Amino acid sequence: MVIQGDALNSLLSVPDQSVQLTFTSPPYYNARDYSTYPSYEFYLDSLCEVFREVHRVTAEGRFLVVNTSPVIVPRAGRQHESHRFAIPFDLHPRLTAMGWKFIDDIIWKKPAGAAKPRNSGFVVHRQPLTYKANAVTEYVMVYRKQSHRLIDWNLRQYPLDVREDSRVPDGFEATNVWDIDPAHDSVHSAVFPESLCERVIRYYSMIGDLVLDPFAGSGTLGAAAVGLSRDFLLLEINEEYVSRIISRLGLVARAIHLGDWRPHGHDHD
Ligand SMILES: C[S@@+](CC[C@H](N)C(=O)[O-])C[C@H]1O[C@@H](n2cnc3c(N)ncnc32)[C@H](O)[C@@H]1O
Repeated sequence: MVIQGDALNSLLSVPDQSVQLTFTSPPYYNARDYSTYPSYEFYLDSLCEVFREVHRVTAEGRFLVVNTSPVIVPRAGRQHESHRFAIPFDLHPRLTAMGWKFIDDIIWKKPAGAAKPRNSGFVVHRQPLTYKANAVTEYVMVYRKQSHRLIDWNLRQYPLDVREDSRVPDGFEATNVWDIDPAHDSVHSAVFPESLCERVIRYYSMIGDLVLDPFAGSGTLGAAAVGLSRDFLLLEINEEYVSRIISRLGLVARAIHLGDWRPHGHDHD
């Protein structure tokens, strides 16, 4: 299902503990045309309101995976400095404080050619102190909704055939550095590679689960979910991107009455 609207408003209508996995890449802080926030604190607070609702709708012991990276807000002119914001590090303590238990820090590594050059001045003058690394990585931070129950308890909620069918096939990534090429889309400027979504879905959900992306963009998570026999719930504020999701996933646009909507789940006792 796809819902057009503000993520927080849409989430308010989603029942408690109805989602098994969230994977999302939130809007960048003022680094793209679709995000303009009055301050960095306001930006972090807005994201946290959404992640608090995601916590409520997530089933006990299930996962939230967040893709972010530091962003640069360009300088206003030659007399000014650009500003780099360490979003993953600033978000992390806020997420753990609201009940998300830290599980893993995965590094998504892109090829060197994918980086936006930051060191052109340094390359010419080689002056110490002016060095800047070209960023080829993003963070994929993994959290679990706090629970006194072990993961085994989560697995035992599923019938044996679902557990068997959900087994991760050979060739899985054993380290926390994932080499994946970036993806491009004709409509959206910052999309997930489908293979990144596939890994996250395979490693952190079971067949038949409901996966959520509250900042869905072009809907890559939904496309990957369909291929892996999971249900999806995509929230996106931008009408053009919602149209892209609908055409990409071959969905039929229709009025949605959330009051009538009940996602199925396996984790309820
Ligand atoms: C980094 S993009 C996500 C791209 C997505 N992972 C994909 O594969 O296409 C973040 C998205 O969040 C959306 N967004 C920003 N604020 C939002 C809000 N309050 N509620 C819902 N979506 C929002 C933006 O329109 C943008 O498409």
